[in-house]
Amino acid sequence: MLKVVVCVSGGGTNLQAVLDAIDDGRITNAQVTAVVSNNAGAMALERAKKHGIPAIVLSPRDYPDRSSFNGAFTRKMLELNPDLIVLAGFLVKVPAETVAAFDNRIVNIHPSLIPSFCGVGCYGLKVHEKALERGVKITGATVHFVNEGMDEGPVIAQKAVEVRQDDTPETLQRRVMEQAEWVLLPQVIDDIANNRIFVENGKVRKEEKEKI
Ligand code: GAR
Repeated sequence: MLKVVVCVSGGGTNLQAVLDAIDDGRITNAQVTAVVSNNAGAMALERAKKHGIPAIVLSPRDYPDRSSFNGAFTRKMLELNPDLIVLAGFLVKVPAETVAAFDNRIVNIHPSLIPSFCGVGCYGLKVHEKALERGVKITGATVHFVNEGMDEGPVIAQKAVEVRQDDTPETLQRRVMEQAEWVLLPQVIDDIANNRIFVENGKVRKEEKEKI
C-alpha cells in the first residue's frame, strides 16, 4: 500500500479528487496518511479532517528564517515517512534537502502544459491569466516529478484543454481543473501505486495497464 502525504495551500479540490478516486476504486493500493498545509485557513485541511486524515499546519511564518522552516519541513516529512509526496496546489518551494531525501518520490500538479506558463511566480490563477494574455488556443495540466528547480522535474503526464474565445482566467481555470487536473492526478497516483511509472535517464516511462 503506497503511503501518500498531500501538501496543499488552498481550496484542495485536487486533494478531493484524489480522496474521491481512492474511495471509488480509481486509485488502488494507495492511502493518504496525512495532509500538510502552510496555511491554517486552507479549506483543504477541512477536507482532510472530514476524511479522518491527520491535517498538519507547517508555515514558514512560524519560523525565524527560511532555513529553520526548511529543516522542520524535511524532518516532518521524514517522520511521516510517505512513499510519495503529492504537491496539490502547494505554493511553498519544497526545500532542496526534502527533494534530496525523497528522490523521484515527490510529484507536483501544475495547471499548464509545461514548459509553458510555469516557473517562479507562475501559479494558480496567474497561469491562466498568462495563457489568455498570450492567446494560446490549447492549454492543459502537467504532473511532474519535483527536483530542485521550479516546475522543472521530469514530466510524468499531460492533458490538453481547449481555450475558448470568451474565457476569463476563472472559467479557464475551472475547465483545466475539471478536464485535466482532477483526471490526471488520480491517474498518476494510481500508476505509481501500481508500479507502472519508471524514471530512466531523467525521463519518465510508463507501462500500459494490461488489457483484459
Ligand atoms: C491547482 O490549479 C493547481 O494546479 C495549482 O494550484 C491550484 C490549487 O487548487 N498549482 C500551481 O499553480 C502550482 N504551481 P486546489 O487547492 O483547489 O487543488
